This record gives sequence, structure tokens and C-alpha cells, in this order.
Amino acid sequence: MHLETFIPAFIMFAVLGLIVPVLLSNIAMGGRLMPTEDKAKAPAAAASVYDQIGGAAAVDAAVDVFYRRVLADAYVNRFFAGVDMSKQAAKQKAFLTMVMGGPHNYTGKDMREGHRHLVKMGLNDSHFDHILMHLRATLAELGVPENLIQTIIGVAESTRDDVLDR
Ligand code: HEM
Repeated sequence: MHLETFIPAFIMFAVLGLIVPVLLSNIAMGGRLMPTEDKAKAPAAAASVYDQIGGAAAVDAAVDVFYRRVLADAYVNRFFAGVDMSKQAAKQKAFLTMVMGGPHNYTGKDMREGHRHLVKMGLNDSHFDHILMHLRATLAELGVPENLIQTIIGVAESTRDDVLDR
């Protein structure tokens, strides 16, 4: 081989010989092309709101306090007349758990179907606002941080049109 073809070929093999093993080891370690130091700094998956407020124990406590408040509020409690409140609390716990990113064990009705008969009884925005107020007060009473309260109220708010069947 002539010297003028040998030198570029030598450089090419040397470069490939360095790059290929580094790429392979990176991919094999699951790091793709991210250097190890950057991988250590990569954020872990964000915890769900459900986990952040304290999981099942926190949801249980919140729903119990919430319905105590709701049933003591003469503006909305007529809608709950005749309702089995222990079943209702269980459904609400499962529903809130699901929408806050916890386990999906809710088997109740969808929000439109579950409240349609109440809309016929006169359920409107002002009642919905009362329910949100009780939810907010409950979470504050249990010491849930304001940023999480806002997220949870946002989730509850997103059901408004379904609950009011419009
Ligand atoms: C933040 C919005 C709301 C959510 C997330 C919510 C959630 C639920 C859930 C999960 C159920 C069970 C559905 C089923 O039977 O399978 C339910 C039923 C019920 N909700 Fe709501 N609700 C909301 C707003 C309201 C409002 C504003 C009222 C009235 C003031 C209300 C009164 C009731 C009543 C009385 C039932 C029981 C109906 C029955 O069994 O006859 N809810 N709700």
C-alpha cells in the first residue's frame, strides 16, 4: 500500500476504533447517547398528586371531612337526601383517587349519568361552586399545600359541564 493511501486509511480505522466501542457501551448501558453525569441529573418521573397528598389515607380522611361539611350545608344537602352516604363516600374516594393519578378502581357511573337526575332537581353552577368551596376548605383543613389544592380544584372544575349535563 502506498503511503498516501495508508495514512488516511489508518486515521479512519483509528477514529472508528475509538468511537464505535464508546457508542456501543453507551447504548448497552441504556444511556443512549447521554453522558453518565447528565443521566444522574435527569429528573425522575413526577409523583402523582395522589402520592403527593399522602395516598389512600389522605383521600379517606379528605372525603370523610368533605361529606361532613357538605351534609351540614343547607344550600346543597337536599340533593343527598336518601343517598347511602357510606357507598357514596366509597365511590367518591375511588373517583378522586383515579383522577389524581392513583390506582384506577372506580366502577361508578360517569359524571353526566351520575348527576343527571340532580340537574332535573335544579342542580346548577351555584351548587357546584358550594361543592368546590367545601372541597377547598377540606383540603386546607388537612394541611394540603396550596399548589396541590389548586391542582385538585382544577381537576374537579374540569367535571363541571358533565356534572351539570351541558
Ligand atoms: C366536583 C364535582 C363532582 C364530583 C367529582 C362528583 C363525584 C361523584 C361521584 C363519583 C358519584 C358517584 C356516581 C355513581 O353513582 O356511580 C357522585 C354521585 C353523587 N353526587 Fe357528585 N360529584 C360532583 C359534584 C356534585 C355536586 C355539585 C352535587 C350536588 C350538590 C353532587 C351530588 C351527588 C349526589 C347526591 C350523588 C349520589 C346520587 C345517587 O346515588 O342518587 N355531586 N358524585
